[in-house]
Amino acid sequence: MKVLGIETSCDETGVAVYDTDSGLRAHALYSQIALHAEYGGVVPELASRDHVRKLLPLVRETLREAGMTTSDLDGVAYTAGPGLVGALLVGAGVARSMAWALDVPAIGVHHMEGHLLAPLLEDDPERGRPEPPFVALLVSGGHTQLVHVEAIGRYRLLGETLDDAAGEAFDKTAKLMGLPYPGGPQLAALAEQGRPGVFRFARPMTDRPGLDFSFSGLKTQVLLAWKESDRSDAVRADIARGFEDAVVETLSIKCERALEAAGCDTLVVAGGVGANKRLRARLDEMTRKRGGRVSFPRPQFCTDNGAMIAYAGALRLAAGQHGDLAVRVTPRWDM
Ligand code: KG4
Ligand code: ZN
Repeated sequence: MKVLGIETSCDETGVAVYDTDSGLRAHALYSQIALHAEYGGVVPELASRDHVRKLLPLVRETLREAGMTTSDLDGVAYTAGPGLVGALLVGAGVARSMAWALDVPAIGVHHMEGHLLAPLLEDDPERGRPEPPFVALLVSGGHTQLVHVEAIGRYRLLGETLDDAAGEAFDKTAKLMGLPYPGGPQLAALAEQGRPGVFRFARPMTDRPGLDFSFSGLKTQVLLAWKESDRSDAVRADIARGFEDAVVETLSIKCERALEAAGCDTLVVAGGVGANKRLRARLDEMTRKRGGRVSFPRPQFCTDNGAMIAYAGALRLAAGQHGDLAVRVTPRWDM
């Protein structure tokens, strides 16, 4: 079964084709980061308009790369939510229209389910594809959640952030130290040059039982440290390192607790913050010590992309799950 996947929930236009027999056939991504940079964040109306401009050319490019035409498709999957309503409607409109014209099913996919299943997109050459049950850590700009994946489609929320998401904390912290949008990856790059232990920030909510997170207090701690410092490049790097270490250790402590609570050995990490090198190394070390494993999508599939939507759509289609022809999106939507 060959499924076209379309992602337009925020500021990336992503398109891919997944084949349940031969795997990922092609994928293409257009990032709007440069468009929004001068505003310091995503401007929803500009995002919608840019998806309109880029989506059809990307669909053509992806099909060409896959060596396919639209008549080869068995279904069209798209992100139905959560996300920016205008941006979602562009993907939903194109996907549903294509599905109607081709007389194939359209499948509305939950964006976070897409992220959650992204680590299963590809075989790990060393350890094979992770199989449920496992614990998933979803860490993006909008979410920080621990989910017990009992089976594909059976998800139990174990814990989540009570305020800022981990990616949001990275972005806001970067901004307050004067780094340009989107600051998360730049803050992480800066932390590479910083010295560990010069600044030590709290590991929020690790001193009590539970699997929830809270990251908003960390950025206030950073703000105080930054204001009291000489604001040199060296200090900025040391603060970045202290902040990154606090987030990484907090996530690792909670992941270990979640594995214990769920009785699982396997951890799967998804979402943009999953691209963070130190987080990857730390979770690898933690799971190995427990005799288990951790799986990450390749960094390019940690952030928003069409491949995860095509894959989640293909699984749903194979399970006989798809909706009617109404163009409907759900900007706020629990998984
Ligand atoms: O999953 P994603 O592409 O979009 C959402 O659905 O939110 O995640 C984007 C988030 C941003 O907050 C970004 O700063 C963060 O992921 N991010 C990183 C890194 N790369 C992306 N955070 C820390 N270290 C990184 N290397
Ligand atoms: Zn995302």
